[in-house]
Parts: sequence; structure tokens; C-alpha cells
Amino acid sequence: MAILPVLTFPDDVLRRPCSEAEPGTGQIRELADNMIETMYAAPGIGLAAPQVGLSIRMVVVDVTAVIGEPEPHVFLNPAIARSEGTITFEEGCLSLPELSVEIDRAQKIEVHFQDLDGNRKSLEAEDLLAVAIQHEIDHLEGRLILDYTSTVRRDMYRRMARKMRAQGL
Ligand code: NI
Repeated sequence: MAILPVLTFPDDVLRRPCSEAEPGTGQIRELADNMIETMYAAPGIGLAAPQVGLSIRMVVVDVTAVIGEPEPHVFLNPAIARSEGTITFEEGCLSLPELSVEIDRAQKIEVHFQDLDGNRKSLEAEDLLAVAIQHEIDHLEGRLILDYTSTVRRDMYRRMARKMRAQGL
């Protein structure tokens, strides 16, 4: 397993809508392992393939606390089939350092996806797990937490990100 470099804003790949992931290959299994390793190392509770430079519809999520047993989920081609309720959560993103945004999401979702072997599955998730899955699915559309802030805050963040990049941070 390897820890992959995580791309940060304003990298173009983060804005590109992803194409279907193809299950069943050795490559996709290796990518899943590496993405999980990278998520744990960050540490983060979710990671989407475009964050490691690949425009494919694949995400990994694990919202268990550090003290709990790891429970990594791998979703290929995830789609939200049903959602209900609202939950507001202060979200951060490994690709947008120094930014946290309060976002309203569905409190409970049913997500349809494929596993690494291509089996079609469905999962009901609520609260933090539901939030993390919705956040990661946003990445597959090129949507970032920055898009949920005000124009003023977005411009400020853009300027800060450019400055950080210029300084090689
Ligand atoms: Ni993110």
C-alpha cells in the first residue's frame, strides 16, 4: 500500500466531472487500498479519486473514531437513491486546507453503488456517514465545499490559496 499525494485547490482535476469506474480490475483494487491508506494517514474520514488525480467515480469513507475498529467503505459509481431530513455540519476537505464550511445535507440517505467486484449494492446511512458520502459524491461532480460559501468568502479563499501556492505551501 502507498500513501498518495492529495491534490489541493485550485488544481483543475478537482473541478472535472468524473467518468464511470470499472470494477473488477487489479488496478482498481490497488487504488482502493492506496486511497484508504491515504485517508487514514491524512487523517480524514473520506477521499474521492479526483483528489488523488484520477477522474473516476470512486470514493472511500470511514467515519469511525480513531479508537474504534476501522470500517472502510469503498463506493464505485455511487448514486443517492433516496434522501430525507436535514443535518448541518461543519465540513473540511483535505483538498481545501484551512477552510471549514457549514453545510446543510440530507440527514439520511440510501446510496446505490458497486463494490470492487462489480456487485450492485445499497447502503442506508445517516448523520456523519451520510454527510461524508454526500461530500465525497460532490467531488465526483467537481463540486467542492467552497461552492457552498458566500462569494466574498470564496474570493478570499481563492486569494489565500494562490498565495499559499506561490509560497510553495
Ligand atoms: Ni473533500
